[in-house]
Amino acid sequence: MPPLPNSAAARDIAYYVHPQTSLRQHRESGPVIIDHGEGAVVYDDAGKRYIETVAGLWCASLGFSASERIAQVAYDQLRKLGYYHTYRHRAHEASIDLAEKLIGIAPVPMSKVLFQCSGSEANDTAIKLAWYYQAAMGRPQKNKIIGRRNGYHGNTIAAVSVSGKPDMHADFNLPLPMMRHTEFPHYYRQHQEGESEAAFATRLADALDALIIAEGPDTVAAFFAEPVMGAGGAIIPPKTYFEKVQAVLRKHDVLFIADEVICGFGRTGNWWGCNTFKLEPDMLTCAKALSAAYQPISAVLINDKVHQAMLAQSDKLGSFAHGYTHSGHPVATAVALEVLKIYEEMDINGRARRLGRCLLDGLKRFSDHPLVGDIAGVGLIAGVELVQDKRTRAGYTPAGRAGKLVDRIGNEHGLVLRVIGDRLAFAPPFVISESQIDEMLTGLEHTFDAAYRELSA
Ligand SMILES: Cc1ncc(COP(=O)(O)O)c(C=O)c1O
Repeated sequence: MPPLPNSAAARDIAYYVHPQTSLRQHRESGPVIIDHGEGAVVYDDAGKRYIETVAGLWCASLGFSASERIAQVAYDQLRKLGYYHTYRHRAHEASIDLAEKLIGIAPVPMSKVLFQCSGSEANDTAIKLAWYYQAAMGRPQKNKIIGRRNGYHGNTIAAVSVSGKPDMHADFNLPLPMMRHTEFPHYYRQHQEGESEAAFATRLADALDALIIAEGPDTVAAFFAEPVMGAGGAIIPPKTYFEKVQAVLRKHDVLFIADEVICGFGRTGNWWGCNTFKLEPDMLTCAKALSAAYQPISAVLINDKVHQAMLAQSDKLGSFAHGYTHSGHPVATAVALEVLKIYEEMDINGRARRLGRCLLDGLKRFSDHPLVGDIAGVGLIAGVELVQDKRTRAGYTPAGRAGKLVDRIGNEHGLVLRVIGDRLAFAPPFVISESQIDEMLTGLEHTFDAAYRELSA
């Protein structure tokens, strides 16, 4: 049914371009307007209730309506100092406190923090810093950045270039010419017959080594990885993968940048994915759950090696010529600080582990379902792959058909699902209750059964 004239939906079609959306289809279907939220649940403007199985965009860790406590902190900060910048030596207390806090909980010794507004800006900043660092070391030609196929690091020009998502490059004149991509560690999909996780990990680390050697180690600045790949499908790295990859990076003196934009702040059952998978990055980027998504804020944590190089550059050039109007915004930093306090009080990491077990055990119920192949998870993040043939792991054709169907039917059953091709990713808000997880699993069961019937018809 076409939207009523002058309704919000009609005005949306008239005026608004939506990100990551089929623009033609949107003109016909119009928007799904989300009206309000309560914990892990959102309601559309017709009053339909949905369980949000991926916390919006993996970010609304405390749910969809902020508590009085958070609202009060934002209000107080808005009234006291609603804006000030941090250029040219200016500072305000909330951003100082947040920087100190982040250094205090960093997974490896880190030296300093830079603030931005989004994960993309954090990753763009880290890429610029990798180049700045290499220039300070007297090797500006060491400028290639390696990401992974299906990796996702954002949508600004550099962050999307290091992402391994060809659909996001097509016709945007991207990726930038100094970006390279290596294989991604999806054991279930990519392993060869009889290959163990450890042997698969060795093969991937060898491929990275070969790529760096082929490009010339003196031309490779940095390697980017998400501890658990999010938009790639909630891919849990196979055993020994990061240990072997990090040995390759050390051998070639390549900086390691851990993108913790999804994994940071409890998602994998520890503060950082780096803790869970023993990563020792030179830089770490985070966003999303940093403020429980209530304010747009991101951070880059840098180690002393990178900071010393920046000091030398700033001496040479007169200043560190990088930053944003809203870097370390007082309201965003005040809210993030309060969110981190709340995470500590609720033992976010313990809660993620406990609820994650409940989610993963529940998903494992579908192990025998004819539509379900891989089921994998860590902390409160999990992936489920839809297949046509469980033995050969072959999917339905065309690719994405099963995923689209499950998405539509899940929606009818009151689930907001995150479907990536034929894989489902789960990363619900940490405030989800066990009974809501049960409700979600029941909805999934109906969804899988109905989708299977339709695919088999
Ligand atoms: C791992 C990762 N890095 C970076 C980003 C980009 O973050 P933003 O959308 O805040 O720019 C995302 C967004 O989903 C992400 O998943």
